[in-house]
Order: sequence, then C-alpha cells, then structure tokens
Amino acid sequence: MGTVQGFDAAYARLAGALFEQVRALSRDGSGVTRASYGDVETRVLAHLARTAAAEGIATSYDAAGNLWMTVSGRDRSRPAVVAGSHADSVPRGGNYDGLAGIVAGLVCAIRMCRERVPPERPFTTVAFRGEESAWFGKPYLGSAALLGKLTDKDLALQHRDTGYPLMFYMREAGADTQRVLRGEPLVDLRSIAAYLELHIEQGPVLEDAGRPIGIVTGIRGNFRYRTIRCLGTAGHSGAVPKRMRQDAVFAVADLLSRIEEAWDEWLLGGHDLVVTSGVLHTNADTHAPSIIPGEVWFSLEARSRSQETLDGFRRAIAAECDAIGEARGVRFEFDEPILSAPATMDGALVERHARMCAERGIGYMRIPSGAGHDAALFANAGIPAAMIFVRNQHGSHNPDEAMLIDDFMLGTGLLYEAALAI
Ligand code: GLV
Ligand code: MN
Ligand code: MN
Repeated sequence: MGTVQGFDAAYARLAGALFEQVRALSRDGSGVTRASYGDVETRVLAHLARTAAAEGIATSYDAAGNLWMTVSGRDRSRPAVVAGSHADSVPRGGNYDGLAGIVAGLVCAIRMCRERVPPERPFTTVAFRGEESAWFGKPYLGSAALLGKLTDKDLALQHRDTGYPLMFYMREAGADTQRVLRGEPLVDLRSIAAYLELHIEQGPVLEDAGRPIGIVTGIRGNFRYRTIRCLGTAGHSGAVPKRMRQDAVFAVADLLSRIEEAWDEWLLGGHDLVVTSGVLHTNADTHAPSIIPGEVWFSLEARSRSQETLDGFRRAIAAECDAIGEARGVRFEFDEPILSAPATMDGALVERHARMCAERGIGYMRIPSGAGHDAALFANAGIPAAMIFVRNQHGSHNPDEAMLIDDFMLGTGLLYEAALAI
C-alpha cells in the first residue's frame, strides 16, 4: 500500500514513533494501562503537548483537563474542524484504542505546519481524558465535561480500585471542577464546525471483509449496572434441602440464562442488541465450597443502536428479577444505572467520506460501531460528527490488539483530506 494521500514515509515513521513513545509511558505487562484521569494519562498528554509544541502547534488544556492542539486557519474566525479521541485505556488494554485518533489528528496537524498548508479554518486535535467506563463506570467523561454534561452525581462516581470519587481525580489532573459542575460547555460550541474521530474498529468485520477502512454510520448506546447484588440466605451446603434454600448463585445463574434466552428472542425479532455480564463474584472473605452462597455481585450492560430496545430490554430484565425473586426467595438490588444514548453520524459527512474512499480506490464499507466513542456525545449535542474506522487485528480491550501502520496511514490520509474539505 505504501504512501497514501501524499503522506510520505516520514509521517508513517513519526506516527510509529509516537505510538511507541506512548506505549513506553504506559506499559503494563504485555498491554498498556492509562487510567481515566490518572497519572499515566496526564503524562501521555504532556508528552503529546511537547511533541505538538515542538512542531509549532498551539497547545492548551480546557477546564476538564483535555488537551487541545491547534493549527490556526487562514480564517481564524470560522468554526474549527475538531479531530480527536481519548488518551486513556482499559486496564491492560491495547495501545491503539483511542490513541490512534489522537496520533492521526496530530500527524495531520504536523503535516499542515511542516508543509505550510494552512487549513481554511482552524484545525484542532483534542486528546480527551476519561473515555473508558472501566474506571468510574461512566464513559466519555472528558468530552461530557467539555459539552457541559457532567453532573455532581457523576463527579461522585467511585474509582474501581480506590473508591475515591471522580472529583478527586479530576482535581489532581488539574481540572476546574467548579466550572465543570456549572454544566455549561467549556468552549463555545458554535466554534466547532464538525467533529471527526479516527478509531480502530475493535472488531473483526473489516479484517474479515478484507477492507482497511470503515465509515461509521452510528454508535450503539448502552445501559450499565456496575454492581447488582443478589441477596439470598447463606447456609450449610450439606444440611439444607433444596426446597428450603435461597441460593444466590443459582438465582443469578437462572437470571443470566433467562437474559441470554431473551437476547436470542430479541435478535430474532430484529433488534440490535449485545449483552454482557462481566464482573461476577461471591463474598471473597467468606465464600467456600461448603457454604450455600447468600450474596452475589455482578455487573450487567446491554448495548443497542435503538433507545427503544435498550429501554424495553431493561424492563424485561427487571421483570425476570421479580419472577426469580418470587420463585427462589432472593432479592436483587440494582445500583443507579449509567446510561449512554445511541448516536447517528452526520449523513452528509458519511456520504462525503464514502465518496472519497470510492474515488481513491480505497477498500471501505459503511459500518455501525458496536463500541462507544466520544463522537456520540458530539452528534447528540447537534455537532456534525463522523468517524473513520481503521481495520485492526485481535480485537481490542486486550493486550493483543494490533494494527498495521499502512492501514493507519490510509485512515489518516482520509482524515487529512476530510478536514481540509470542510
Ligand atoms: C469503549 O471502549 C466502550 O466500552 O465502548
Ligand atoms: Mn475502549
Ligand atoms: Mn476507544
């Protein structure tokens, strides 16, 4: 494939070096860990800022601690094209989830500076903090703060490891939480013409189709319970007859198998839906094979492109919990659900990006995003948003996540042309 859209090999080497520098800052076993609003994320942003500044790109942090790297346009008064993605990762995740979109924007900006091709309007690359829900349960923290959508309840969300609230971590990272809590956008949203996010696909579809580029049509929303507690009655595993037990593990197993059956039915009914229960445990201090489990904790999330599907499936789960509670003498306690709305990408931008691929002979396909992205918040705030997916290998949210730099440069070339075309 080689060079694309006029990006010569020097830019591919630059991108590769940036990826490796950030990997070195965040290495954790065979993967990387960049916690939302954590020290590593802060160091990564500082490194990106130094890199940008050395190329003559203006850098600043907004009140939520997100990094902005701006090439001023020929007409500075016009609304900017904003490219971006997130700098954080899941625990022991891959290096490209999020980072690819930031490096792509930065490489485009560096090219504009080096080759003295000022864009018509300002071109800004934002490195967002806190996109991964793995740390505080809620996704899109940095972009939500930017858009004036973080509440005091959100700032009280507890860190998965320490239990400290998000407020504490945001302040440590230099954010102005008083300002964030005012609930107003941190920049004038009329100054943003469009939001463009390049991201790895994180799934097998592009690889399977043999196409390097995906043009994202929409982004799934979700509901997530970080911790549902099932309360039964603990007891001696040998002494209690079956009819007299309130076994929390069998109750949760029953619930999860009913949810999976319902999921199949909803798929047959034509719904877009994925369901995951990811964190599941009994009481680690006291559980033993000889104890009937009296308590189980588990997480549950479901994702769909349809809000009606999400609402309906949530009601169906609640009804199953009531039925199981009645039949088995257990009780389910739900924590406050964390909700993210589905989003639709801007139709005109989608069509333009598809046309650009077709004209340049780039293998592409239109594709919905199963994963969440900051672009969803921009779209739902009424800002035209679009995403370019880059094919990647071995999925994502795991240390084996991989990407070919040629594919990345193809996507970056598209981003460059798309940004200049707006
Ligand atoms: C973001 O990575 C998500 O969980 O969709
Ligand atoms: Mn992710
Ligand atoms: Mn991501």
